[in-house]
Amino acid sequence: MSEVGAGAGSVARILARVCPNGDVTATDIDTRFFERLAAEERITVLRHDVTQDGFPADSFEVIHARMVLCHLADPAHVLAAMAEWLSPGGLLLVEDLDLGPADASPHPVMRQGLRLAEQTLGVSQGSDLRLGRRLQALVTDGGFTFGGMRVQPVMIGDGGPADEFWRLSFAQLRDFAALSNVALAGELDAALSLIDHPGFTDLGMNAVSVWGRKPVRPTG
Ligand SMILES: C[S@@+](CC[C@H](N)C(=O)[O-])C[C@H]1O[C@@H](n2cnc3c(N)ncnc32)[C@H](O)[C@@H]1O
Repeated sequence: MSEVGAGAGSVARILARVCPNGDVTATDIDTRFFERLAAEERITVLRHDVTQDGFPADSFEVIHARMVLCHLADPAHVLAAMAEWLSPGGLLLVEDLDLGPADASPHPVMRQGLRLAEQTLGVSQGSDLRLGRRLQALVTDGGFTFGGMRVQPVMIGDGGPADEFWRLSFAQLRDFAALSNVALAGELDAALSLIDHPGFTDLGMNAVSVWGRKPVRPTG
């Protein structure tokens, strides 16, 4: 199995636990936050740029990537590489966010805060926080046999894990904006304090998971 863009390594660890007969290769361009997993049985930690570094064909039976494709300039190209690395019949599971629901937020302050966050990440990192909406088409167009799709609404202001994600994101972007644009910093501050305002909740985004299999026989 491969956990691509393993981040802090939590999913790599889960994969190793739920598949006691499988080996997990956990990759990232920055392995600092899960280097410790190298000490665990059946987990290999590998510094690997998924856009440039390869694996031999048919290396894995399962490939998982969560919130990685959205940061890459050409996700279709990376999915094509993943199809090579999977053995025939192998399972692909990719997960990304869709910030589309933020456009319809009834809270102008949050709508604006999320819009600024999306724009800033898009410009500074090239990230596409709406990739989740295109994920199914990318997987199907990539030649995988479509397996299924799950969409989970992610709230802001309900005390869930997304609150901390947005607190940190707004605070970081606010510091970035404050250097150049005081008006933006004020708007990000307003969104930041709204998260913890009593009675506030909002649908911020959807988390999209799509899975499929590499065909046993080549298509076409
Ligand atoms: C938003 S984090 C997600 C981490 C983890 N997958 C999770 O869901 O908790 C994105 C991760 O992708 C990694 N990443 C970004 N570009 C990459 C690349 N070209 N090759 C491999 N990993 C990459 C980053 O270093 C980061 O750890």
